[in-house]
Amino acid sequence: MTRILQLTLNGRARSDAVSENLLLLDYLRETVGVTGTKTGCDGGECGACTVLVDDQPRLSCLTLAAVVDGKRVDTVESLVTDGRLSAVQRGFHEKLGSQCGYCTPGFIMASAALLRRNPRPSEADIRDALGSNICRCTGYVKIIEAVKYAADLHTVGASP
Ligand code: FES
Ligand code: FES
Repeated sequence: MTRILQLTLNGRARSDAVSENLLLLDYLRETVGVTGTKTGCDGGECGACTVLVDDQPRLSCLTLAAVVDGKRVDTVESLVTDGRLSAVQRGFHEKLGSQCGYCTPGFIMASAALLRRNPRPSEADIRDALGSNICRCTGYVKIIEAVKYAADLHTVGASP
């Protein structure tokens, strides 16, 4: 069965014909061609596919595209404004929170969601918010530092 999916993706309204069983991850990467969101485990265990649905982090590999009908979906591509990196992107870049980078879009989106709901998170808040994201390279210390730095940037006006 096919249906019409209407949503706001990265700030722009879209309308696409999709099959009822199409995953949001495949919709983003294959139907739309927005490839910042990564496929990792494909089974809900790594967080690489994290996007925001109405500002809440969601695993797009476990979410049907049809579920986001009428909603706002943001991927990592949404964060750059007028060529400027967001606070979280700057944090990961400047504090070396990324090595191979494969996990990074998922970490960035989970971190952006955290800062939108809690601009001054404690380290425990950060660890809790990122508890579903796996990184095989960094050992997590740099990632935590990156999000703390992003929170500092956010409090002086940078968008998360
Ligand atoms: S690809 Fe979705 S959680 Fe791993
Ligand atoms: S930076 Fe390589 S998996 Fe996280």
